[in-house]
Amino acid sequence: MVVSSSALPFDVADFLGSKAQYRAPAAGRMSRQELLDAVAGADALIALLRDRVDDELLDAGPGLRVVANCAVGYDNIDVAAATRRGIPVTNTPDVLTEATADFAFALLLAAARRVVEGDRWVRAGTWTGWEPGQLLGASVGGATLGIVGLGRIGQAVARRARGFGMDVIYAGPRDVAGAAELGARRATMNELLAGSDFVTLHCPLSPQTRHLIDAAALAKMRATAILVNTARGGCVDEAALARALEDGTIGGAGLDVFEREPQVHPELLTSERVVLAPHAGSATNATRAKMCEICACAVRDALSGRRPETVINPEIYR
Ligand code: GLV
Repeated sequence: MVVSSSALPFDVADFLGSKAQYRAPAAGRMSRQELLDAVAGADALIALLRDRVDDELLDAGPGLRVVANCAVGYDNIDVAAATRRGIPVTNTPDVLTEATADFAFALLLAAARRVVEGDRWVRAGTWTGWEPGQLLGASVGGATLGIVGLGRIGQAVARRARGFGMDVIYAGPRDVAGAAELGARRATMNELLAGSDFVTLHCPLSPQTRHLIDAAALAKMRATAILVNTARGGCVDEAALARALEDGTIGGAGLDVFEREPQVHPELLTSERVVLAPHAGSATNATRAKMCEICACAVRDALSGRRPETVINPEIYR
């Protein structure tokens, strides 16, 4: 039995063939209890980033032979717990790189040029016609973009930034091969925070990156700087960010991810300085279909005794 915690925009049952048994909600997602019950008889689980895959869930599914996470990030999964049980865990890298980089750039542009605020004005009928001092925002061309985490998505953002004539610096644990070709120069985190007009996060959420952007980091940023987060909400201390936007410590933010999704800090909801999106970075038809297909491939491979291509704990095969 293959269980998906949520309805997927992809026909997993058809992909796996008529012999495979497949269980998923007709719409929406299973509650925690429904998921705990469903995995009891499952061989495979397709999980979403909202599902906590931990000892409790893995104990509830003693027959699980694979957990396919329908996301590139897997901070929702206790990988060590799966590894201890010999269960491969897979993710969906590469296929969402361009879509997520597009979305980071969309948020950057929307926050810089106050696109959503302008849309609200026009709809509300409060726009009184062109004025020279109206809705002035930040220039993007010629500005410095600080990329935190120059991995696949960070590099795709750097390529876009070059097209926009931006200077690009990056921070991360190591020098990235190919950074020079992207026109990206490595900086310390402090240099990046102090020297960027835009800071965009593309690091995984880990104990090292939790609240990477906290009150102290925000205080190092320029008063006009805009923070973009399409990585994970937990990388930013949301309460500190709300305060920093309110008191003008930084200029604005474009956020696709939040600490306690789907909840958003109430002060962010009322701030004109922030553009908010519902964790939609990879939300294109083609990308989501490919993400689901990768999960279905991982399930098929694991259940037929093959090592899935996108396994993140390959040590179980040694
Ligand atoms: C989305 O946030 C993902 O990790 O794929």
